[in-house]
Amino acid sequence: MDSYLICDAAAILVTFILFLYSFGKTLSYPNLPLPPGPRALPIIGNAHQLFSAPAQEAFAHLAQKWGDIVYLRIFKTSMIVVSSAHIARELTEMNSGNTSDRPRFVLFRELMDMTNDVVLMPYGDKWRRHRRWLLDVIQNTKDIIDVSTMQQIQTARLLKGFVGSPDTFLTHIKLSIIPSRASWAFSAKHLHRWSAAMMMKLAYGFDVTTLKDEYIELIEEALKATTGSAGPASTLVDLFPPLRHIPEWVPGAGFKRRALAMKEIRRRMQASPYRRVKQAMRSGSVPPSVTSRLLQSASEELDEATEWDIQGIATVLYTAGTETSESTLTAFIQAMVMFPEVYAKAQQEIDEVIGRDRLPEFADRESLPYLECVLKELYRAMTRDTATYPRPEDFLPERFQSGPENEEPPEDPRGIVFGFGRRICPGRHLVDNSLWLAIVTITATLSISRAVDADGKEIMPVLAFPSSAVNVIRPRSQAIVDIVMQMDSEQV
Ligand code: HEM
Repeated sequence: MDSYLICDAAAILVTFILFLYSFGKTLSYPNLPLPPGPRALPIIGNAHQLFSAPAQEAFAHLAQKWGDIVYLRIFKTSMIVVSSAHIARELTEMNSGNTSDRPRFVLFRELMDMTNDVVLMPYGDKWRRHRRWLLDVIQNTKDIIDVSTMQQIQTARLLKGFVGSPDTFLTHIKLSIIPSRASWAFSAKHLHRWSAAMMMKLAYGFDVTTLKDEYIELIEEALKATTGSAGPASTLVDLFPPLRHIPEWVPGAGFKRRALAMKEIRRRMQASPYRRVKQAMRSGSVPPSVTSRLLQSASEELDEATEWDIQGIATVLYTAGTETSESTLTAFIQAMVMFPEVYAKAQQEIDEVIGRDRLPEFADRESLPYLECVLKELYRAMTRDTATYPRPEDFLPERFQSGPENEEPPEDPRGIVFGFGRRICPGRHLVDNSLWLAIVTITATLSISRAVDADGKEIMPVLAFPSSAVNVIRPRSQAIVDIVMQMDSEQV
């Protein structure tokens, strides 16, 4: 027992000395001209300002007081907060050699070994190789995976999920509504499956039809644990890297124990679907995917490092692509419950252009300008730049319409929400098409309205994530139900 205490004290003392040493070093940084910012306290710097409120509020407050470029110091780490899309673009595009790197990510890269995750990768040759691999698959898609067909199949499955299976749809039609809260859980499940299944198809070629899939469960477990391990002590290790040397048995080193456990879970999560694709390739029949494509091109030189990199590319498609797509589509449904006049207007446009006898297709996109504005406004809702987009709390697709009263519509938010410069989101075109097809299909076929309470009063949804919206989703007509029922059950 005593020896444990002595070790504890020694470890804490060593950590403290390392801390003072490295802090002393940072005080001697050259006298560079720095952007304005709040006064830093000794040792902690501006940490108290950053962690006193949710990040977006803290940043907005800083911008109001100090302007669009603010300098902060968090312990020994310098941070520049840019609050203007225009400046962020200029810095990352004109000066991309200096602004395309990533922080060190001690917790994720060094303790959890997420060294094959392109999102966290430092700017350099390895990042370039990963990025090229991703773009080959996501953008030059024709000869690898037929992405449009994949999107059509998943959207049809989404619709079928909403309308109900042949056994249950009659109950839904008879009841006319799907009960409110149950309805939300029901919607959330279908929205999640829609995005997760697309990423599984791209990454491994697996045709996932249920969230009970063993690989999805494995990835979700790992994602949950990764997010769960990013508590305050973990944040501290990024701000003060010598803490990574703290022995695992020291009280307070729970973050390190969790990180090392995570490393194992993540390894299993990446290796398991990868092995299945590799085995299927040996047996000769393998559906095209990022993994099979990269395995084919690596063929002879398949060393351990290359295998690790291929596993990373497949995983990042799921981790970067699933929740982002799903939450945007969720926000669409939420917005339509809150702003029914927008939904009605979009439905009217679809009825006039496409009619009600068939489902929308990609070829209809050009003919539906109002729906395009709805999609833009959906992206715009991710920004809060009141100078470019006044009335940020409203959902106003009309702001993007050009016409006599609105000669110069504001900038397309797609140029902002996917980031800028060399690290711009590589999945942006893919997700834009997936979202368009999903929202046009939902709008054309489903009626979405507010639920009513026991007194018959409408329940006003509140904007929140994760969503707790209560709503009623039902097919717009019997004709829609008939179309969905006739869908090829083999395919969808
Ligand atoms: C609405 C959905 C999405 C939004 C809003 C979004 C947004 C972003 C943003 C803001 C970044 C950071 C850019 C930067 O560092 O400057 C990013 C990076 C990334 N996104 Fe997306 N994304 C979405 C969907 C997707 C999808 C579907 C995929 C995959 C198919 C994907 C893959 C990635 C990857 C791999 C990176 C890291 C790129 C790098 O560091 O080089 N994203 N995304």
